[in-house]
Amino acid sequence: MKKTIVLLPGDGIGPEVTRAAAAILRESAQEFNHQFEFEEFPIGGAAIDAAGTPLPNETLDGCRKADAVFLGAVGGPKWDALPVGKRPERGLLDLRKGLGLYVNVRPVKLLEPLRGISPLKADRLGDLDLEIVRELAGGMYFGEHGHTTEEGVERAWDSGMYFGEHGHTTEKGVERAWDTESYSTPEIERIASFAYARAENRSRRLCSVDKANVLTSSQLWRRTVTAMSAVYPAVKLEHIYVDNAAMQLTLRPAQFDVILSSNMFGDILSDAAAALVGSIGLIPSASFGSSAPLFEPIHGSAPSLAGTDSANPIGSILSATMMLRDAFGLSLEADWVEQSLQRVLSGGYRTPDIAEPGARAVGGSVFTEILREEMQRTFEHAERYGWGV
Ligand code: NAD
Ligand code: IPM
Ligand code: MN
Repeated sequence: MKKTIVLLPGDGIGPEVTRAAAAILRESAQEFNHQFEFEEFPIGGAAIDAAGTPLPNETLDGCRKADAVFLGAVGGPKWDALPVGKRPERGLLDLRKGLGLYVNVRPVKLLEPLRGISPLKADRLGDLDLEIVRELAGGMYFGEHGHTTEEGVERAWDSGMYFGEHGHTTEKGVERAWDTESYSTPEIERIASFAYARAENRSRRLCSVDKANVLTSSQLWRRTVTAMSAVYPAVKLEHIYVDNAAMQLTLRPAQFDVILSSNMFGDILSDAAAALVGSIGLIPSASFGSSAPLFEPIHGSAPSLAGTDSANPIGSILSATMMLRDAFGLSLEADWVEQSLQRVLSGGYRTPDIAEPGARAVGGSVFTEILREEMQRTFEHAERYGWGV
C-alpha cells in the first residue's frame, strides 16, 4: 500500500510524540511492505516563528493532498500573549476547518496493565471502554469574534474560535466579552449520524450530552438526536445533562459506551475521561470530514515537559494505530502495534506520568525504542502469542 502522510509536529512535546508515532508507522511500513511517504510542515507557534502565521498556506495545501495527517500539539507560553485569533491554537482550528473535519473520536479505554494507576477504585472503574464523539466544526469555537473600543465596534475576524458569535466591548469603562454557542439541524445531524453508526458497531448504546435545561441550542440538539433514533432502532439512546455527565464519568464511567457531544462539552469531558485511565498522555483521537483525516493525541504541548524526554508517547502511538486502522484499513498492522504495547506495559515499562513505585521508569524515546523491539519479538513469536495466525 502506498500512502502519503503529513506530519505536523508543532510545539512543546509535539515534536517528541510525533517522532514516536512516525517511528511506529515506519516500522509498520517496513514489516508489511507498505510505502509510506512522510512530509513535514510547520504549524502553531513553530509556524508563527517561521512564517508569521499559525497555519501557512503550504501546510494546509500539503495536508489537503495527503492520505492522512498526524499532528503533535500546538501552543506554549512564548505565544500566550497573542490575541485569540493569532495564537498557535488558531492554526489547529483553521486546519480542522480547512480540512472540513467535523467528527472527532476520542476513545478512552483502560489498558489492563495500567488499571492500578487510575485514580478510581477498581470497583468503580469497571471495564472502562468508551468513545467520545465530539462535534469539531461548530458551536462556540467558531463564530463571529470581535471587540469594541470606545470609538465603536471593531470586528477582528468573522469566523472565530469555536464557531459562534464572540466579542469584546468596552462601554463607559466596562469591558464585555462574549462567545456564542450555535448549531443548525444539519450540523447536528451529520455528527449524530456518525455517533449512531459508531454505537451500532459497539454495544448499541448512545448517550447524548447537552444542557437542554438551559440552552436553546441544546434543545435543538436533543430534539434532532431524538428524531434520528427512528433511523437507528437498534441503538438505545439516552440523554444526559453535561453537569451530570461530568459527575457520572467520575462516579461510574463504565456505564458509558458512545458519548455524543458538542465541540466545547467534548473538549472538557475528554480531558476528564482521560484522567480516569491515569494520564492524558494515553488518549488518541481521530478526526474525519470531507478531506484527509487527522490523527492527534488529545493532550497539549505540555510546555513544562518539553525537551525532558518525559512525555508519554502512548496517546500519539495509539493515534498512529487509529490512522492505520481507520484511514488505511490496516487492522492487522494496528493490532500488531497495540498488542506489542500491551506487552511492553505488562513488562513494567512506564513513562514518568504513569510510573508507580517499582516500575521501570524510562523516557519517552526509550519507551518507543522498547516498543519497536517488542514489535520485532511479536513477529518472531507470532505463533506463540497467537498473533496474526
Ligand atoms: P496539556 O495537555 O499540554 O497539559 C496538561 C497536563 O497534562 C500537564 O500537567 C502536562 O504535563 C500533562 N501532559 C500532557 N501531555 C502529556 C504527555 N504526553 N505525557 C505526560 N504528561 C502529559 O494542557 P495545558 O497545560 O492546558 O496546555 C498547554 C498548551 O497546549 C496550551 O498552549 C494549550 O493551548 C495547548 N493545547 C494544545 C492542544 C493540541 O495541540 N491539540 C491540546 C490541548 C492544549
Ligand atoms: C484539544 C485542544 C484544542 C481544542 C485547542 C488547542 C484548540 O484543547 O484538541 O482538545 O480545544 O479543541
Ligand atoms: Mn482539549
